[in-house]
Amino acid sequence: MARQKSILVTGGAGFIGSNFIHYINRVEPDIFILNLDALTYAANLKNLDKLSNPSCYKFIKGDICDEKLVYSLIREYEISTIVHFAAESHVDRSIYNPQTFIETNIIGTFSLLEAAKKAWIEEKIFPLSDVRFHHISTDEVYGSLKADEPPFSEKTPYKPNSPYAASKAASDHLVRSYFKTYGLPVTITNCSNNYGPYQFPEKLIPLTILSAKNGRQIPIYGDGQQIRDWLYVEDHCEAIWLVINKAEPGETYNIGGGNQVPNIDLVKQICSILDELLSDSKYNPHTQLLTYVADRPGHDRRYAMDITKIDRELGWKPREQLNSGLRKTIQWYLDNGEWIESIISRPQYKAWLEKNYKKR
Ligand code: NAD
Ligand code: TYD
Repeated sequence: MARQKSILVTGGAGFIGSNFIHYINRVEPDIFILNLDALTYAANLKNLDKLSNPSCYKFIKGDICDEKLVYSLIREYEISTIVHFAAESHVDRSIYNPQTFIETNIIGTFSLLEAAKKAWIEEKIFPLSDVRFHHISTDEVYGSLKADEPPFSEKTPYKPNSPYAASKAASDHLVRSYFKTYGLPVTITNCSNNYGPYQFPEKLIPLTILSAKNGRQIPIYGDGQQIRDWLYVEDHCEAIWLVINKAEPGETYNIGGGNQVPNIDLVKQICSILDELLSDSKYNPHTQLLTYVADRPGHDRRYAMDITKIDRELGWKPREQLNSGLRKTIQWYLDNGEWIESIISRPQYKAWLEKNYKKR
């Protein structure tokens, strides 16, 4: 298909975007991948050091809010597929500084849509059947589930609770509207919490691993009984690529890992794997570092995804089990000291860590 030849990945220096670039570079080595990323605090170009086919990859530093830049890249590189990951992605930061979430997640998505509309709809640089705008979103747009409620389906009404979730909900609606109003061939996927290599250590799993290894407190928000549905990042990348290639324009799919676990149980599981892998550590047993702290304002109690639609229509199911995925992820963080050092040596990250996470 023509739309597979040159793809623009936004936010490809972040966690999921860089895993996606590795995945495509490996399974479709002839596809040219252009990575547009503004290199915010969450980015790390080292994520892309070990690509299997670097000759089919190029990085451009730039902001997705710069519509002219995006349009010129679509023209210059003959982009027929846009895979949109770029975002401000951390709920805690959205609580204390929502402004950048509005700018990147809403205005940025709007500017990408406008650039794609100009090149693909107005100037028709490719047949419409060859183009695709794929938007990556989150389960958080659906709000919070009670213990006895069924998982979110694609028909669940949007009810976002954090500024992050609200900004993603707004961007989803914009993407959908460009399909309905202008006929832009879009697809949307809403996924649950991802984990795996290259995740920035402010999110629960990598923060827990690094804190445990270095003898810092592992903060548990509130009572620790909040439930997330953990999805291994490579399973997610496979699902996204399937949707881009097989789904009809205008469709939305939920993607989840089928692993609903309370935070406290997840963190204890990580500690017990570390007890085994770091048996000589002076912080053994690592659960001694667990520290209950004040809850996150507006903290959603439970997320869970019903993945019947993507399974039935496209034949996708997650491959990874939580325990083996966690083991692989922990081993990756233990084996990649240089990557970790490239983040923890940043003055801003260091200051944030020292301020919030005491050493035992
Ligand atoms: P991340 O924070 O690790 O990476 C985001 C990337 O976007 C960074 O490299 C950053 O530099 C880039 N970026 C930010 N603002 C930009 C701008 N204005 N212009 C260009 N680049 C910009 O995020 P992630 O965890 O990889 O998430 C990727 C996508 O998946 C996001 O859209 C997020 O909402 C969604 N998502 C993530 C999760 C998860 O568990 N991580 C779950 C559901 C949905
Ligand atoms: P996080 O990784 O921030 O993802 P999200 O907020 O998008 O779900 O948090 C996952 C869960 O872990 C969430 O319920 C908040 C909780 N949490 C903690 O208990 N302690 C922490 O230090 C962090 C970062 C999160």
